[in-house]
Amino acid sequence: MNWHKIAGIEHTGEPFVKQVKAGNKNICLVGYEGKVFAFGLYCPHAGGNLGYGWCNNGKLVCPIHRYSYDLQTGKGSEGQNDYIDTFPVKIEGRDIYVGVYSFFERIKQGFNT
Ligand code: FES
Repeated sequence: MNWHKIAGIEHTGEPFVKQVKAGNKNICLVGYEGKVFAFGLYCPHAGGNLGYGWCNNGKLVCPIHRYSYDLQTGKGSEGQNDYIDTFPVKIEGRDIYVGVYSFFERIKQGFNT
């Protein structure tokens, strides 16, 4: 896994929802209740940009049709039967890093399951 320092944002504990890049990957970065979460940028329902979404009761809400996803797991709310990709986050001082597996690492993981 490669850890990418996210440019243009610092961990302050303040809430936010923001579109960022982790290497070549488009990420929706979310600050919520002092924690930071990272997800794939696009909503699995119809491709909405989650970077324009917001948080409500521990869930990230898509701005297009308001589907919502658990911040801890990426799992869609009841009845949606979908999920968003999650990425590991680490904080060093005020710097935020997002971990991204390479294509080959993901294939290797598929064979190990
Ligand atoms: S595109 Fe996200 S809920 Fe429809």
